[in-house]
Amino acid sequence: MNHIQAVKEVFSKVSFSRFTSIEARIDTSRLRNLPAMTTATSPSNNNSSKNATTKLRGRSLYDKMGQPKTVVAPMVDQSELAWRILSRRYGAELCYTPMFHAKLFVTSPKYRESMWNEKDGAFGNDRPLVVQFCANDPDYLLKAAEMVAPRCDAVDLNLGCPQGIARKGKYGAFLMDDWDLVHKLIKNLHDNLSVPVTAKIRVYDDWDKSLQYAQMVLDAGAQFITIHGRTREMKGQQTGLANWKILKYLRDNLPADQVFFANGNILYPSDLKRCQEETTCDAVMSAEGNLYNPGVFWTKDDDMDKQFPRVDKILREYFEIVKEVDSPASRHAMKSHFFKMLHEFLNVHTDLRARIGKTSVHHTFEDWNGIVEEVERIVGEIYEKPDIKQLDVVKDGPVEDWGACYKEVPYWRCQPYFRKVDGEKQNARSLKVAGETELLVTSDAARNKTAKRMLAEEEKGQSEKKEEQRPLKKQAV
Ligand SMILES: Cc1cc2nc3c(=O)[nH]c(=O)nc-3n(C[C@H](O)[C@H](O)[C@H](O)COP(=O)(O)O)c2cc1C
Repeated sequence: MNHIQAVKEVFSKVSFSRFTSIEARIDTSRLRNLPAMTTATSPSNNNSSKNATTKLRGRSLYDKMGQPKTVVAPMVDQSELAWRILSRRYGAELCYTPMFHAKLFVTSPKYRESMWNEKDGAFGNDRPLVVQFCANDPDYLLKAAEMVAPRCDAVDLNLGCPQGIARKGKYGAFLMDDWDLVHKLIKNLHDNLSVPVTAKIRVYDDWDKSLQYAQMVLDAGAQFITIHGRTREMKGQQTGLANWKILKYLRDNLPADQVFFANGNILYPSDLKRCQEETTCDAVMSAEGNLYNPGVFWTKDDDMDKQFPRVDKILREYFEIVKEVDSPASRHAMKSHFFKMLHEFLNVHTDLRARIGKTSVHHTFEDWNGIVEEVERIVGEIYEKPDIKQLDVVKDGPVEDWGACYKEVPYWRCQPYFRKVDGEKQNARSLKVAGETELLVTSDAARNKTAKRMLAEEEKGQSEKKEEQRPLKKQAV
């Protein structure tokens, strides 16, 4: 399907009258300074009100969880049990499961068992735990949520997935086009599920629309809101920087007591405090930062072995957890976790990259153990160098205009990953920031490439506009 067909298909599915009707129902004068959790059941829906009124609400739920400040993001195939156990040891105070597909979860026992088993939420202190689903059918979502409710603290609705598969299946960030459905999905859980419902959203470029959207999500019954400060379009090469300013704006304009998690841009443990201070969020969620360095949540002290763990030590620790857990999801996720934790290390020891590449979920733990042993051997040799004390340090670079610095971390320690855009490190130079129109670029080469890309996009946009005039007009309604 080409781009124009895809746009047509999306427009044909979006109900614009419903879109405007739910927006109209949200009285924007209510957006500021409301007491928390003004949500609840509709008076006409008496049969459903029992669960909604008896379960813990926003702040009480947050307190019961121990007021977590550091959160492992929901990550497909990655935030599974073994990873959560490891992350909790390194400072994560709340974890989300990977996103599960609600309908598949209900209808396919095979899918369900591969994603969720009796150890999840029960083994190795796997709490507090939020289970995330994507869905577009309120009944399937409720059924799926009921299946996990006994072993989790809340169920989250994914409203942020921007991938093509989410567009096709109409879920995740593509529900941003159907507020009425979002409201129904959340409200059905709020009214009928035994545990609270929460939601994770992305932002629009339009700050006020983002605010109305967030308020609608809360109005439907979400008890926590996680806001990923990127728009739906910011993915892959266009990922760019999350916008903490929009997060602060939303935080300031939502009810003061609203439990609010900020998500995006965490590279180092020191970013957690900056994010908390700049957004005044309750907790900071991290995905990529956590995957490449499970030590990213360690803030108790400046212990370098906790904040930037040695790859040999962390790999061994993680591998032992995988063996102990021995669940399909954890086995399945192992290869990807190896690659990410070893990312910088494998840039030097490329032969090992090929070896991991050839090893799969079908190999035995013995085979995987061989890889862990090889990493232990190589790093062991590094630590025999006479000048290792001088080499084994994390150095701060100069303070950047965004308020902190990049760090130089030895390659045998876990560290953040910088995506390359136009040959430049992203997060460092060539950035689009959600909700801001300008592109920040510093090198001439990157500037020229960006200008060319923008021109091409503009030209493409104009020709598409001609062909797509009707739906685009409709969108403006
Ligand atoms: C490997 C991977 C898998 C992800 N899977 C999910 C998911 O299942 N549900 C979801 O809401 N977001 C998912 N995300 C998005 C993250 O939760 C997070 O919102 C995003 O990566 C921004 O946070 P970061 O800047 O800390 O990476 C995923 C991200 C990554 C990198």
